[in-house]
Amino acid sequence: MKVLLAKTAGFCFGVKRAVDTVYQQVEENKDCKIYTFGPIIHNDEVIKDMQAKGVTVLEGEEDLPKAKNGIVIIRSHGVPKRICDRMDELGIQYVDATCPFVKKIHKIAMEKAEEGAFLVVIGNPVHPEVEGIMGWAGEDAAVISTAEEAEHLTVPEDRKICVVAQTTFNYNKFKELVEIISKRRYDISVLNTICSATKERQTETARIADRVDAMIVIGDKRSSNTQKLFEICKNACNNTYYIQTLDDFDMNQLRSVETVGITAGASTPNKIIEEVQNNVRINF
Ligand code: F3S
Repeated sequence: MKVLLAKTAGFCFGVKRAVDTVYQQVEENKDCKIYTFGPIIHNDEVIKDMQAKGVTVLEGEEDLPKAKNGIVIIRSHGVPKRICDRMDELGIQYVDATCPFVKKIHKIAMEKAEEGAFLVVIGNPVHPEVEGIMGWAGEDAAVISTAEEAEHLTVPEDRKICVVAQTTFNYNKFKELVEIISKRRYDISVLNTICSATKERQTETARIADRVDAMIVIGDKRSSNTQKLFEICKNACNNTYYIQTLDDFDMNQLRSVETVGITAGASTPNKIIEEVQNNVRINF
């Protein structure tokens, strides 16, 4: 049997950096408690492993005082400015593992707010990354995610508009919404802040799914980027399986196939991908 493993499967640069930061802090600060602000990634295996090493997840702002004598790690999604300010007030030591691509959007948001421009974020308003970006954008920024919201966007006439995107937003949708705003206003600057990691993973996955008899998608059930990969694969290859770990997979399902493709979401650790890959190879 031929096995095709996607090169883009697993952690993207920003997620890897955040996860590595936690393990590095645990190693370097044995006498100090380590916290993460929210779960570092959507993956139970990784969170459990970190908990076993003494890492505690803070659920929100109200939990911050608990971390007074510890070190808090900010995950790749980033946080609103007020969270950093609050930690400074409380004298909490923190390590910022916000992905540099997200940090760049925070910088844009801050600069544009200082210039008096109105920031429009195209993205999911309840996603932590977008909540974080909004927290650097001054008083009156807006989030939109649909054509209808773009049509009804109201920005005072005397304000310039700056449009940015959530890093994982769909590019075609972004273009569509930007066009709607551009038709209504001429004084807008558009910065495409979509990260290419998601797009590359989806393109490679679609290419592999097109060529194989069966496709295995590995990732947490709550991970939206893994769900998207599953949809892409299912469209190209009816024989697609969505699993979280090797235990979820019945190898017998591959009995009559000749080629298998494997891909994984951005929060799937290499260890799990390798386990699945090795087992498929050993069994056939
Ligand atoms: Fe960063 Fe892009 Fe990953 S923004 S966290 S490298 S998807």
